[in-house]
Amino acid sequence: MSYTTKKIIAGNWKMNMKKSDGLNLIKSIKEASKAIDESKTEFIICPPFTLIDAASEELKGTNIGVGGQDCHTQTSGAYTGNISADMLKDLGAKFVILGHSERREYEKETSEYIAQKAETAIKAGLIPIICVGENLQEREAGLELKVISEQFDKSIPTNEATADNIIIAYEPVWAIGTGKIPTLEDIEKIHNLIQEKSQERFKTKDINILYGGSVKPTNAKDILSLKNVSGALIGGASLKSEDFIAIAKASEEE
Ligand code: PGA
Repeated sequence: MSYTTKKIIAGNWKMNMKKSDGLNLIKSIKEASKAIDESKTEFIICPPFTLIDAASEELKGTNIGVGGQDCHTQTSGAYTGNISADMLKDLGAKFVILGHSERREYEKETSEYIAQKAETAIKAGLIPIICVGENLQEREAGLELKVISEQFDKSIPTNEATADNIIIAYEPVWAIGTGKIPTLEDIEKIHNLIQEKSQERFKTKDINILYGGSVKPTNAKDILSLKNVSGALIGGASLKSEDFIAIAKASEEE
């Protein structure tokens, strides 16, 4: 996906949804998304691996793209339990979330490792959604700009990446699943920094930057109307079709 002025509404289902509930949710999002103007909105759904195949089949021919939530640094080989970018692509995925804070924290993923994954994903023809974000301690110490800047430098591969073949997601860790969000000025400030970093690295500020962390139908309009917010990466609220679509609806109104 190249830089777009459409709003990107992306759902991260995390480790939720067994087969039948997941399929029902995909079908109900597909149906409800018909009420949303395709010229203004681009949808992405990132279900668990177990539902990628079914989601791709069900969503063929719609404007809802499918993404994985992780992939390995290698294309194939002796890596028990892992899934490669090639495998995701083979099942019809177009995107893959990489470097989500839950993987950085629980799976001890470093920015350098994330960059390797992103390079492999791009080579496989996927668009990585690369997540960056400060934790609460870093925010309280006023270090958010430094942290995001470093994560940008190290998590985005120096080979392969362009402003057109990656998406960045700014997700302050303390805002994920907590109901708390930064002030709109703070969101703007961080997105502005990411645009500046993109200007340095890619010679353009035109790069898709999502905000993620407690995006709900009630706050979506304010967040998505910020000029440098390209869309949202949504966890909890993406598991209910009404909420997910209501967020897209709110973005149409801005
Ligand atoms: P949340 O999660 O919307 O539930 O806060 C966002 C995310 O983790 O991507």
